[in-house]
Order: sequence, then C-alpha cells, then structure tokens
Amino acid sequence: MGKSYKIAAIPADGIGPEVVSAGIEVLQALADKLQTFQLDFTHYDWSSETYKKTGKYIPDGGLEDLKKHDAILFGAVGAPDVPDHISLWSLRLSICQPFQQYANVRPTRVLRGTQSPLRHCPPGKLDWVIVRENSEGEYAGQGGRSHRGWPWEIATETAIFSRVGVERIMRFAFETAQKRPRKLLTVVTKSNAQRNGMVLWDEVAKQVGGEFPDVTVDKMLVDAMTTRMVLKPETLDTVVASNLHADILSDLAAALAGSIGIAPTSNLDPTRQHPSMFEPIHGSAFDITGKGVANPVATFWTAAEMLEWLGEGTAAQKLMESVETVCERGVLTADLGGSASTKEVTAAVVAEIQKA
Ligand code: NAI
Ligand code: MG
Repeated sequence: MGKSYKIAAIPADGIGPEVVSAGIEVLQALADKLQTFQLDFTHYDWSSETYKKTGKYIPDGGLEDLKKHDAILFGAVGAPDVPDHISLWSLRLSICQPFQQYANVRPTRVLRGTQSPLRHCPPGKLDWVIVRENSEGEYAGQGGRSHRGWPWEIATETAIFSRVGVERIMRFAFETAQKRPRKLLTVVTKSNAQRNGMVLWDEVAKQVGGEFPDVTVDKMLVDAMTTRMVLKPETLDTVVASNLHADILSDLAAALAGSIGIAPTSNLDPTRQHPSMFEPIHGSAFDITGKGVANPVATFWTAAEMLEWLGEGTAAQKLMESVETVCERGVLTADLGGSASTKEVTAAVVAEIQKA
C-alpha cells in the first residue's frame, strides 16, 4: 500500500473551499487508482469567518497541531469585510514565516489544450519556474506610522535583505535551475535604484553562482524583465527574484500562460523541518464565489506539486497528464474560454485518472 501522508487542508475563504474540495477529490481518486500511497486529510476551518466569530484565524496551539502534518493544502484567504493586510498576515504569513517556508516556487507553462494570450506561443515556448524569496525582503513587516491622520503623517515600509536569507534562496534557485534541462537561471534585481539590499542580492548571487559552474546566469532589472517575459518568453527558464518582485512577475507569468486559474505555488521549507504549504496562486475571487465556475486546475497542479515534494513523482506526473488531457478535450472553465463548471472539470479529471 506504500506510504501514508498526513495532509492538513485549510480551504479558508471565497473560492478556496470550492477548489480545495475539488483537489482532495482528485487526490483521493489518484490514491485509490494507483494504490501506491495513502492520504489522510485533516480539515481546518481557519478562515475569515472563524476570525469574525472568534477574533482569531489560527486558534491557540494551532501551529503546533499543523506541524504534525507532512504537507498543507491551502485555498485562499481574504474577505470583503476584513482588511487584506489583516487576513494575509493573520493566516497565510502566520504559517509561512514561523515554518520558515522561505522558498516560494511557481512553475508556469502553457498546458496542452490551453492558450497563451501571446501570439505564437505554443506549449513548450513558455516553460518557467519562478523562485520567490518568501521570508523577508519587502514583506518583512518592518516599518511604522507616525502622526496618524495629520497632513504630515509618515509611514515607512522597510525591505530587509539578510545575507543568510539571500544566500539560502539563491542556493535553492541554483539547485532548481541545475535540475532542469536548460540549466539557465535569470537573477532579477533592481540594483540600479535600490542601492543597498539589491546590491547585496547581486553580490550573493555572484558568490553562490560560483558553486554552480554548470548553470548559466543572467541578470535582469525587474522592469526590463516584464518586457522580456512578454516578448521573448523562450529565452527564460528558471528565475529568482525578491518577495515583491516575484509576487508581481509570477502573476504576470500566470496570465501569460493562459489564466491565473491554472497557476500553482509551493511554499517550501527546503530543510524539511516544517511541513511545506501548497496553494493555487489566485486569491479568494469574491466575484465568482459560490457560482461553481472557479477553475480547479490551479489546485490540481498545486496537488501535483505537493505529491512531487512528498516523493510521489509518478503520481504527480499521472495527475498532470490527466489534467492536460481533459483541457485538450475542451473541458475548460470560463477563464480559459470554456463553459464547464468546477464540478464538470473535476469529474472529467477523476474519470481520466480512473482509466486504465
Ligand atoms: P483573485 O485572484 O482572487 O482574483 C483576480 C481575478 O481572477 C478575479 O476576476 C477572479 O474571478 C479571477 N480568478 C481567480 N482565481 C480564479 C479561478 N480559480 N478560476 C477562475 N477565475 C479566477 O485576486 P484579488 O481579486 O486581487 O483578491 C481577492 C482576495 O483574495 C483579496 O482579499 C486578496 O487579499 C486575496 N488574495 C489571497 C491570496 C492568497 O490567499 N494566497 C492571493 C491573492 C489574493
Ligand atoms: Mg500575488
């Protein structure tokens, strides 16, 4: 029967519960079909609803409990009546930061049966992995406000770049690039305007790069990077960027690959001391919540990334093949130009998995 994995499911807000339940259905179908591993899910109701009732997203002792799992499958957090900085910091970042999930990995490619909004961009021409620094940088939470409400009010938002933090993400990015056929890493920076943190970033990239003579490195300023992604997608492979820069670039990447509704992300603790967390890139999408039309593909791809991380590479591959076959057959949600519902796409993927 193979290994058994304990997975914590945190669907949270908006379309999160719709796509996470679709993801679990597909994962269970895969485990039943392959009989090589088992998944044991624990469901957590940590969400903005819970916060509004109890004043907390994560109950006391919650993180200790979460630690006992092999991985976390997360939906999305954010509600119209809770400020976004409260929801994000109280749930998602409250897991990522103490669990030292310092590497955020965002693969992007054009799936079979889907289309890039770019002209002449068949599957294969756009195939990237964006590695995002996930523990410090511009989202370190450093800063403050003084003279609140006065015309002379000030606010600071300080980016933090530590040598330890930059070194570990660079090493992870070089290792990621080294494992891919092209062995090409683009280091994104803004060291012309940001003359302290980003200069350290460049120096550390150069130093760590010395350990990886087989990886080709090129350096790009973040603004120029946006144009290169659009105009020359085939010249990129693995990309490393700071927390803020990669946040923006990876949403662009998802759109260039067809839709934010297909893009996955992994929040990894590469030391494996804490469970890693897997989630679709998209948010809680209030505009389509409850309509049954959310694209579950991002969560399926997320589930495949989770399996890969757990060491179930064959299952991950089988899942992605099934997803792409279903896309190719035209079973697509509205964001990809189709008219299928979340449930129809899920059922089609389950049926594909069940085929011999
Ligand atoms: P969003 O990703 O929720 O939605 C942006 C647009 O993409 C919307 O038009 C939405 O309908 C569409 N979309 C998103 N996912 C889709 C899917 N699976 N299928 C089809 N269409 C999809 O981003 P937005 O509107 O900026 O944020 C909404 C809330 O989500 C906010 O509270 C925000 O803070 C939160 N958020 C949470 C994230 C997380 O939990 N990691 C990430 C991004 C946003
Ligand atoms: Mg984002």
